Amino acid sequence: MDKYVIHGGESLKGSVRISGSKNAALPLMVASLLTDGDVILHNVPHLIDVEVLIKLLSRLGKSITFKGHTVHIREIGVKKIEAPYELVKKMRASVIVLGPLLARHKHCRVSLPGGCAFGPRPIDLHIKGLSKLGAKIKIDHGYIDARVSQLRGASMILAGKYGSSVLATDNVLMAAALAKGTTVIETAALEPECVELMRMLVKMGASIDGIGTSVVRIKGVKKLTGVEYTIIPDRIEAGTFLAAALATRGNVTITDCEPEHLMSVLEIIAGMGAVVKIGRTEIEIKQHKALKAFSAKAMPYPLFPTDLQAPFTSLACTVSGVSTIAEGIYPDRFTHVAELGRMGATIDVEGNTALVHGGKKLVGCDVQASDLRNGAALVVAGLCASNTTSVHRIYHIDRGYDKFEEKLTALGASIEREKDSIL
Ligand code: EPU
Repeated sequence: MDKYVIHGGESLKGSVRISGSKNAALPLMVASLLTDGDVILHNVPHLIDVEVLIKLLSRLGKSITFKGHTVHIREIGVKKIEAPYELVKKMRASVIVLGPLLARHKHCRVSLPGGCAFGPRPIDLHIKGLSKLGAKIKIDHGYIDARVSQLRGASMILAGKYGSSVLATDNVLMAAALAKGTTVIETAALEPECVELMRMLVKMGASIDGIGTSVVRIKGVKKLTGVEYTIIPDRIEAGTFLAAALATRGNVTITDCEPEHLMSVLEIIAGMGAVVKIGRTEIEIKQHKALKAFSAKAMPYPLFPTDLQAPFTSLACTVSGVSTIAEGIYPDRFTHVAELGRMGATIDVEGNTALVHGGKKLVGCDVQASDLRNGAALVVAGLCASNTTSVHRIYHIDRGYDKFEEKLTALGASIEREKDSIL
């Protein structure tokens, strides 16, 4: 296992290129299961999650090459239609192979994803949606066993008490694309990654109306073709670099990003008093005066993303006054708070809201990542803390940030990857 050793205190300076989106790349790669044609994807980030998915797709009859940032997926003959526990437990998103496997093979077995470090992550909406399309689903020895003789279009609401589900929308979309008749998802997720899946499916021959709105109509077709497609920039990576730039009071330009996907984040940053210059694919952050405390509430897109809640909590620690950060999607997603407390942060969590009493210098120490975004938050904290911060268990961070330490080093940070003796 590796750790990051960070000597904090350097203001980040310069420009950094944003990689392709993890949460877009994963479903777009999975959509290759819907066709026997070749799927070629550009701007795919180098991440552990992508590697895990390549292993899973290989088990499901695909041959995959990954050169530069291009993934080429070819069908070589499906032998097994099972997504095993050892791969699904490493990456919950694997559950979206259910929809396409059912659509093409009428039967599949997918391991139940199991627990998650930041609270319950049920899959009832996935099961509800696929059942509405006619699938017979049972849970058998830790596996979801799904069968159908013919998927048939249906109308459905795919939202729980915290709103629409991104991956349940993806799962149903892919199954409905090859179903008989029309499916209406009344509460489709609006996240850009989900919209990209719809756009790519259309390029593969699917018939989908209402893309980018919450009511999506999918008219099933008999066959989908191969496709060549470019992955959108990662808005969460972009937001993490913005948080790191602000936390270290740096002047940073992020390039190759999609500013439109970050409007809620940019509004908060502008409200803090930073100078933000927005170009077509670039965002420049400059700081001329003291930053102000802020309020943020993580909610479904286009509101503030839950995946930036933890990095922005670290940022709030550096700003005088009380910042209020609420979590409206995963009410228990506060595992970073105790670790930030070890670095000297004063944060009270009341219900789903963190009250961050900021302005006190963080002090480096040993901290431990327990999921991807809390790991990123600890790196942001380490970059602005005094002394040395060692972030353990960075395999969580490797799941979702492409060349993280290289990019931060190029911005002037002192961060090194070392072998870790603490497991
Ligand atoms: N939910 C249910 N039942 C379900 C599915 C979800 O109640 O069957 C609830 C969840 O518990 C949550 C809410 O619905 O309260 C929304 O969860 P959603 O299903 O949208 O999450 P997801 O699709 O499993 C994706 C991202 C997450 C991101 C969330 C929310 C991928 C691979 N994952 O997960 O990304 O936090 O949407 O935006 O796209 C990450 O990248 O670190 C990450 C966790």
